[in-house]
Parts: sequence; C-alpha cells; structure tokens
Amino acid sequence: MAPALMAPEAAIRRFAELVRTGEVEEPRGDLRLGIDLGTANIVVSVVDGGNRPVAGAWVHSTVVRDGVVVDWAGATTAVRRLKEDVERRLGHRFTTASVSIPPGISEGDIKVFRNVATAAGLETDEVVDEPVAAARALGIADGCVIDVGHGTTGVSILAGGRVLKSIDEATGGHHMNLVLAGAYKIDYDAAEVMKKDPARRDDVIGVIRPTLEKMASIAQAALVGYDVPMVYLVGGSSSFPNAPDVFASRLGRPVVRPIEPLFVTPLGIPMKELGDD
Ligand SMILES: Nc1ncnc2c1ncn2[C@@H]1O[C@H](COP(=O)(O)OP(=O)(O)OP(=O)(O)O)[C@@H](O)[C@H]1O
Ligand SMILES: [Mg+2]
Repeated sequence: MAPALMAPEAAIRRFAELVRTGEVEEPRGDLRLGIDLGTANIVVSVVDGGNRPVAGAWVHSTVVRDGVVVDWAGATTAVRRLKEDVERRLGHRFTTASVSIPPGISEGDIKVFRNVATAAGLETDEVVDEPVAAARALGIADGCVIDVGHGTTGVSILAGGRVLKSIDEATGGHHMNLVLAGAYKIDYDAAEVMKKDPARRDDVIGVIRPTLEKMASIAQAALVGYDVPMVYLVGGSSSFPNAPDVFASRLGRPVVRPIEPLFVTPLGIPMKELGDD
C-alpha cells in the first residue's frame, strides 16, 4: 500500500518544528538523510519512505560563501555533528545522504560538496539542485522558485522537475544586515538580531524594503520571456510579512510563500519522487 502523503505546507511546518525542538517522528519505511550547506545555516533533514519529515538539525555557520565551501574543516565537523545528533535521536546510523548544491556551480565545486559528506562518513547518493529540492518539498514540478538566502537571491525556472534556467545574484539577508547596521548605527551582529526580532518588525520593514525591491527586480529580469504563472518564495530572507506583496507587485504574478520558508529546501533534499522505485 502506498504511504499516506502529507500536504506540503503541513510537512514544511512540521519539519521546522522538529528542527527547533529536537523531536523525532516515528518513521514508516526507509530513512533518508539530506544535507544543505548554506551561507548562513547548515541544515540536515531526515524523511521516511512516505517523504514525511522525521527529524532535523541545524547550526549557524559561515563555511560556504558564494556557493563555494571556504572552510573545509568547519564544514565537515558541522555535518558530522549534525548527522550524529539525528542518529542518536533516531537510533539509526546513516551511511548515505543527498546533498544539495546551488545550480550552475562548477564540477569541481560540486565535488567539494560531495567530499564534505564523504569526510563526515556519508556516501553521496544524490546531488540535488537547491531549487529542485525546494520544488519537491512544495509538491510542484513547474514554475519559478525564488530563494532569498543570506548571501544571494537565486531565481530558478523549473519545468518537469528540472531546472530550465537559474541565476544567482549577490543580494540576500547579509545585505539587509548591512543596511540596518548603517541606518541604526549598530554593529552587524546586532543588526542580524534586530532583523529577526518580531518586536522590532516595524523598525526593520521600512529599512529593508529597498533590499526586497532589489531582489524582486532581480527576479523580474530573470523571468523576462518566460511564461510562468506562479512564483514560490523560499529561503530565510523571505520571512518578512511584506515579502510576498513586494514580489507580487513587481512580478505581476501570484506569489506563494510557505509559513517556514527557511526550511523548504532542506526538507526537499532527501525527498524522492514517490513511486520511483
Ligand atoms: N525571521 C526572519 N526574518 C528575517 N530574516 C530571517 C529570519 N529568519 C532567518 N532570516 C535570515 O535568513 C537568512 C538565512 O536564510 P537561509 O538559511 O535560507 O540562507 P542560506 O541558505 O544559509 O544562504 P544562501 O542560500 O545565500 O547560501 C539569514 O540572512 C537570516 O538572517
Ligand atoms: Mg540557501
């Protein structure tokens, strides 16, 4: 019997909860592990045979810059620790993992991402483009995925579950921090905290709005000539309440942003197309 599917939004929300609380779900079927090496965060995710999230863990990190691993030792240590953390909680040992990469990076850089997994004791069973992973978690195969991360904004157009076109430009949460630090005469780390503090939201929104506008115009340029009816916003820097509206008015298209945008891509990495095997 095919395992019951979980609605994408519910699965994303539950995965975020598992990462934040350290809880685990009772798995049904084989477990699969995914690794997301981001500019600001490393996230590992575990799903079961029905693509349901069963565990996750994350750590803030600075081991990747511009889609390239810049701190090899830091990356392998962090991945190993996160892997051991979920292994302990699940009582299960992983020997393989799926690894995500920013689309369009060189073969050499892809090899480095794989080698990080190998050094952490994991054979790479799949290398997944980040927007493809996001699309899996969102339950879509076609459309535009905009990933607003810490270092960059990535815009990918997907057709049939594959990347048709992808661009990545250096505007992300990092740039919001710089703008906030300048506006309020505070240091970078204080700006990062202020940005995510719901109590300071009104002080933040106006200052970071031009950065969101810039991201939306990057997406607008990337979409020229493509007939894409629907746009999906993912990545931590799309968390602001006004982000969907800023993108929708610039793009002239409906924009969907799941409730926990930071966790969409990590959740999709170990997911499989059900009925694949
Ligand atoms: N609640 C929030 N409000 C605003 N920004 C947030 C919030 N939560 C996280 N962020 C920002 O999201 C960014 C991290 O998002 P994410 O984990 O998607 O990036 P990343 O994958 O590490 O980076 P990249 O995709 O550029 O490699 C950081 O800049 C962080 O400050
Ligand atoms: Mg990212």
